[in-house]
Amino acid sequence: MKILISGAAGFLGSYLSEKYVNEGHVVYGLDNLINGNLNNVRTLLHRKNFKFIHDDIRSKDLYPKLPKDLDAIFHLAAQIHVDRSIVNPQETFDINVTGTMNMLEYARMNDINKILFASTSEVYGSAKYVPMNEDHPLSAQHPYGVSKIAADRLCYTYNETYDLGIDIIRCFNLFGPRQKDSGYGGVIAIFINRVLQNKPPIIYGDGNQTRDYMYVDDAVDAYDKVLNSSNNPGKYGINFGTGTEKSVNEIAELVLKYSGNEKNLKAIHVESRPTEVQRLYADISKAKNLLNFAPKNEFGHGLSLLIDWYKNYKSELWLY
Ligand SMILES: NC(=O)c1ccc[n+]([C@@H]2O[C@H](COP(=O)([O-])OP(=O)(O)OC[C@H]3O[C@@H](n4cnc5c(N)ncnc54)[C@H](O)[C@@H]3O)[C@@H](O)[C@H]2O)c1
Repeated sequence: MKILISGAAGFLGSYLSEKYVNEGHVVYGLDNLINGNLNNVRTLLHRKNFKFIHDDIRSKDLYPKLPKDLDAIFHLAAQIHVDRSIVNPQETFDINVTGTMNMLEYARMNDINKILFASTSEVYGSAKYVPMNEDHPLSAQHPYGVSKIAADRLCYTYNETYDLGIDIIRCFNLFGPRQKDSGYGGVIAIFINRVLQNKPPIIYGDGNQTRDYMYVDDAVDAYDKVLNSSNNPGKYGINFGTGTEKSVNEIAELVLKYSGNEKNLKAIHVESRPTEVQRLYADISKAKNLLNFAPKNEFGHGLSLLIDWYKNYKSELWLY
């Protein structure tokens, strides 16, 4: 297959790129590196079947650089940071909505009928009920979530209007090596980074806010199951997660425990963040029924792998 992966140098995109390059497919990895890192795809850059395109999904000049005969597009490139979206909503909408429109138009004009769009559980906002299925209202409040709703619905209209075959994939929170650990990074990575420097985890608010955390390998498996399915299982959105919830307090405790810092460090609480979603966890019945999906990596196992990666490799590998 010839596959285009936007956001290829990012956290999830780099694992997908690695998988398909190693399986012998031709992968075009597109990224402008605003949040990605070339080191995430370092082992692929010399491979004949990996072509890195350093460009921006918002740019119309991009089209001539992309092959027309693609078998599939994974559209992951996005501005993913909630705080950054609050500071600069225009940028987030340009990337997440106009950028997505650009990718969909490219697919439409070139008859590419397998598109996997990285939507997110953040489109649901705080839970009106749990577990959250795909019919849960799309009630995100922050600009990142709302931009993802717009892109998610854009995919819906391209399916309905042009019969494009887009799968709208709504993963809940992911974690694993290569996830950014500072500033706007994922909470688990940020906690580990601090704890390994002998600093306590910082918790916004009371720490009772929950998420459904899935190890990155299970997300790769989820995307792969969708890629290999012929019946457009994500046509109206499809959830992937573990179907369980963990609070930020629990995460802090587990990071301290698994890193061996239980006795000498204690999490500190600071003022809560505006518009933070309080509760999220997935109903994954649709993915189970349509794709036989079941996450394989238990949380503690994923956490130990991540802590090991931090201890052994992280500081050596981070480029920027
Ligand atoms: N990480 C999670 O927990 C999670 C959960 C659900 C959904 N998602 C979605 O999955 C996708 C990937 O997330 P991630 O965690 O790997 O994020 P990431 O930031 O690591 O990856 C996104 C990549 O897109 C690139 N990018 C951003 N703007 C671009 C532009 N204008 N042109 C080209 N490239 C651009 C960034 O440089 C980055 O490498 C995102 O769409 C995100 O919304 C992530």
